Amino acid sequence: MKIVEKLRLGRLATFLLNKRLPVYNWFQFKEGFSRDLVFLLAETWRLGEGDLALDPFVGCGTTSLACKQLGIDSIGYDVHPIMLFASRVKLREYNVEELRAAVRGLVKSKFERPEVEAPGFVTRVFPKPVLEDITFFKRKILDIEDEEVREFLFLGLMNAAMRCSWAHKDGAAIRVVKKPTPPLRKALRRQLLRMCNDVERFERKGSKATIERCDARKLKLEDESVDAVITSPPYLGKLEYTHAYRIEQQLLDLGAPTPQQLIGVREEGTLEDFSEVEEFVEGKPLDAKLYFKDMFAAIRELYRVCKPGARIALVTSDACSPEGVAEVCVPLSELAEKTGFKAKRMLVVNRRFCTTPARKKIGVTQEGLLLWEKRASK
Ligand SMILES: C[S@@+](CC[C@H](N)C(=O)[O-])C[C@H]1O[C@@H](n2cnc3c(N)ncnc32)[C@H](O)[C@@H]1O
Repeated sequence: MKIVEKLRLGRLATFLLNKRLPVYNWFQFKEGFSRDLVFLLAETWRLGEGDLALDPFVGCGTTSLACKQLGIDSIGYDVHPIMLFASRVKLREYNVEELRAAVRGLVKSKFERPEVEAPGFVTRVFPKPVLEDITFFKRKILDIEDEEVREFLFLGLMNAAMRCSWAHKDGAAIRVVKKPTPPLRKALRRQLLRMCNDVERFERKGSKATIERCDARKLKLEDESVDAVITSPPYLGKLEYTHAYRIEQQLLDLGAPTPQQLIGVREEGTLEDFSEVEEFVEGKPLDAKLYFKDMFAAIRELYRVCKPGARIALVTSDACSPEGVAEVCVPLSELAEKTGFKAKRMLVVNRRFCTTPARKKIGVTQEGLLLWEKRASK
């Protein structure tokens, strides 16, 4: 595999550029990549009408949304209820007049102080009046019959609520930083009107986009049905998305995935393990062992569902722990080769210092865009 430095692509591997893009920014997902990465790959690979793209770790739906704009059919899978919810709401096509009417009705409703029932960690990150407003609006939204309108409003409420919170996210940790916050009603009105405007100006094509709950280790797809994969799997040792979104999860009454459903978190021996990887993971710490076994299962599934000649792009990063750097980019490409893929290139898009909790530098991790291909014939 060729390793090439392309640090100028570094921003594409982050969510930063999506923050300014309509619809893409309806849910702030730090662990996501940017629309422009999908645009770049689709152009390079000449994907278009009639092609099917897959993201087996779809997160907040960037691959699916970008494909929708480009007229490429897509399938997005995930196991996290909040990611599935956010992706679905972003991908829907709405009647904007209906949305505007619902928004008007909601933001004009007369406030009645509700009984607030919320777990301790939620009450700590919101000023009391904000939490009361959230509870009030949440109940109003729950009364709306139309599921699509209701979920659109819920995503808006969640976004506005986070803007009015004292929560400061630092990886998986949520710190309480008390500061003045805007009134929730005002933030909600602004957010929902912005989302309605986005719906009006966002151009999407008629291609199909499916979002479904599915474990990437067991894809609900037929053999050789996919033309391209653009994805970013969970990073080794980084389970931020299971903890850092627990406020949003609670606000929307959405459950959390079980450890069993997540890559690299299950107990050993609870799933089929492949003899091909035993030697590969020998001597690695338990978390790395499980991670690579699960990723092997996912990559094997990708191989099964890809058409000969299909292209795969995977954003991932080496891991950093107090013990030092654990390589991930190169080993994942080795696993891909084991399943039959040709690991063509790794573009190094970011380099970061790995530090101890006391900020001592102990190494450098590489973030990579791994490019694989299913050979046209074996
Ligand atoms: C790094 S994020 C993906 C980010 C995504 N590319 C984006 O731009 O929004 C990894 C995702 O994998 C999901 N995930 C974890 N284990 C999974 C599994 N077994 N099957 C499918 N998805 C899984 C997580 O819920 C998370 O949303």
